[in-house]
Amino acid sequence: MYHPRMSSNLSRTAGPGAAIEQVISLFQHTYGFAPAVVASAPGRVNLIGEHLDYNGGPVLPFAINRRTWVAAGPGRNFELVSGEPGFPPVHRAAGAPQGDWSDYVVGVARAVGWPSHGARIAVTSELPVGGGLSSSAALSVAAAAALGRLAGSLPDADALAEAAFRAEHDYVGVRCGRMDQTVVAHAIEGHALYLDTATGATRACPFPSTVWVVPTGVEHALTEGSYNARRAECTRALELCRSRWPELTALAELDLSRLAEAVTLLPAPLDRRVRHVVTETARTRAASAALERGNLAEVAQLLTEGHASLRDDYQCSVPEADVLVAAAVEHGALGARLTGAGWGGSVIMLTEERDASTVIDRVAATFARRFDRTPAPWRARAAGGARLDLVA
Ligand code: GLA
Repeated sequence: MYHPRMSSNLSRTAGPGAAIEQVISLFQHTYGFAPAVVASAPGRVNLIGEHLDYNGGPVLPFAINRRTWVAAGPGRNFELVSGEPGFPPVHRAAGAPQGDWSDYVVGVARAVGWPSHGARIAVTSELPVGGGLSSSAALSVAAAAALGRLAGSLPDADALAEAAFRAEHDYVGVRCGRMDQTVVAHAIEGHALYLDTATGATRACPFPSTVWVVPTGVEHALTEGSYNARRAECTRALELCRSRWPELTALAELDLSRLAEAVTLLPAPLDRRVRHVVTETARTRAASAALERGNLAEVAQLLTEGHASLRDDYQCSVPEADVLVAAAVEHGALGARLTGAGWGGSVIMLTEERDASTVIDRVAATFARRFDRTPAPWRARAAGGARLDLVA
């Protein structure tokens, strides 16, 4: 749980000390003084409910045990340095977006004025960029926590999620929903978060299991346009559906019983997009109920069905993900699917504990035969959300 009122005088919360020391040392080495604050935020896996958060549907993500750390100190302009390869240092004014990684941090500062003139920032991360694990929400939520504290505000988890959403949606220009920022800011260890995006209501669902995350090795970049294009298709499909059902305010409100008629009203490919939204909404509700009953096998089956819908109806999968999911099912996983926006990223798999290593080895071998490279699966568990790690 995020605690904005962490005590002062260099107090530290529990957490991986080495990672905190690393970001402090990067900051100190770069700027020649110690940071005033360090905050961190996790990535996320979405169990199910894909592309529903901008269609008024339910989603069921959990925060994962891999995080991004942001150290911050005062500055006149924005100076940013990253410990990750491929992210060169940036020195800039707040101004217009520049199309690089600094936009996620500056976007947060602009959204809320924390602090609007500038800051010195150092970032380290355990999250691959483009891995479908929401590295961008981890960065922007952690930046919101650090910058908010630096400016003397005490933003709560809702305020962090809102600042990060504004940065990505309004400033970076990805027309995302609110799933990623919400779970990254609010997550509770050992729980998934059921979020009804029509109302904003959330419910913590105990999730003691682990899932295997298998990176496809295909990096997606949401700013490239496919994501915004899908969102525009959904907006158009809603307009067309409203000519038949004027009371509809979001596609996810369309009842399953009306799907057959809706599909006849819509030109291709909008018919497929709506089929995904309506069936995924039903699957997500069913998965949440199955999770409450502790029936992981049923949840997993819904995941596999969800993958077919992403592949055939939303058309946002890639061959690497399709091969991983098919191999998982063939070799005895309980279920598997692509997680996150798609066009690359990662596949998640649920297995019986006793079968896990055999299934994973066989899936990796199938993938290696087909794509000539070996994937690196790892185990994700439901972790806690954003936190302040250090305040000087
Ligand atoms: C990205 C977006 C989210 C959501 C997912 C797809 O992660 O940031 O808002 O739309 O894609 O479910």
